[in-house]
Amino acid sequence: MGLKFNKLAFVLVALALLETSTAWTEHVVGDSLGWVVPPGGATPYSYSTWAANYTFNVTDVLVFNFPSGRHDVAEVTKAAFDACNTTSPISRETNSPVNINLNSAGDHYYICTFNNHCARGQKLAINVTSVQSSQFRHQHCL
Ligand SMILES: *[C@@H]1O[C@H](CO)[C@@H](O)[C@H](O)[C@H]1NC(C)=O
Ligand SMILES: *[C@@H]1O[C@H](CO)[C@@H](O)[C@H](O)[C@H]1NC(C)=O
Ligand SMILES: *[C@@H]1O[C@H](CO)[C@@H](O)[C@H](O)[C@H]1NC(C)=O
Ligand SMILES: *[C@@H]1O[C@H](CO)[C@@H](O)[C@H](O)[C@H]1NC(C)=O
Repeated sequence: MGLKFNKLAFVLVALALLETSTAWTEHVVGDSLGWVVPPGGATPYSYSTWAANYTFNVTDVLVFNFPSGRHDVAEVTKAAFDACNTTSPISRETNSPVNINLNSAGDHYYICTFNNHCARGQKLAINVTSVQSSQFRHQHCL
């Protein structure tokens, strides 16, 4: 009886862990720096350099940490990203932390629309990879 229960509990815990590990990864943009105008401008630090260290999969989540009222997170087109055009973003979030669910593969562009923050390097481009769930399972099972 006790043994059976333990086995069941083990299986449930294992399933829960498997579920957590396959579900998604949270990426904290800029790690401890957060989502700010990079100190010293875009040259010493850039969000592209940060992004280059990670793989972004569909279902992952981006977390932007910043002082609310001093920055925002706008998803924009590539053209708007390149030009730091803040006129008509695809979407805009103002309350930190902003969690963005990456629910489509391909390129995604984010900027801050405050003042000239984008031009000063507060901009992030990522390429989201679509992951086949079968490959996905395979990587995590045993
Ligand atoms: C995202 O994809 C990469 C490469 O396909 C993989 O190594 C990584 O484990 C995936 N991330 C998650 C959270 O499963
Ligand atoms: C990327 O990873 C390298 C090697 O781990 C590290 O030295 C570097 O600081 C990282 N860059 C960013 C922007 O996180
Ligand atoms: C910014 O984008 C808007 C909307 O797409 C467009 O009308 C405007 O011409 C753009 N401004 C510049 C300077 O490119
Ligand atoms: C993003 O990834 C897709 C698929 O791998 C690729 O076709 C596309 O060129 C990539 N975009 C950039 C900007 O690298």
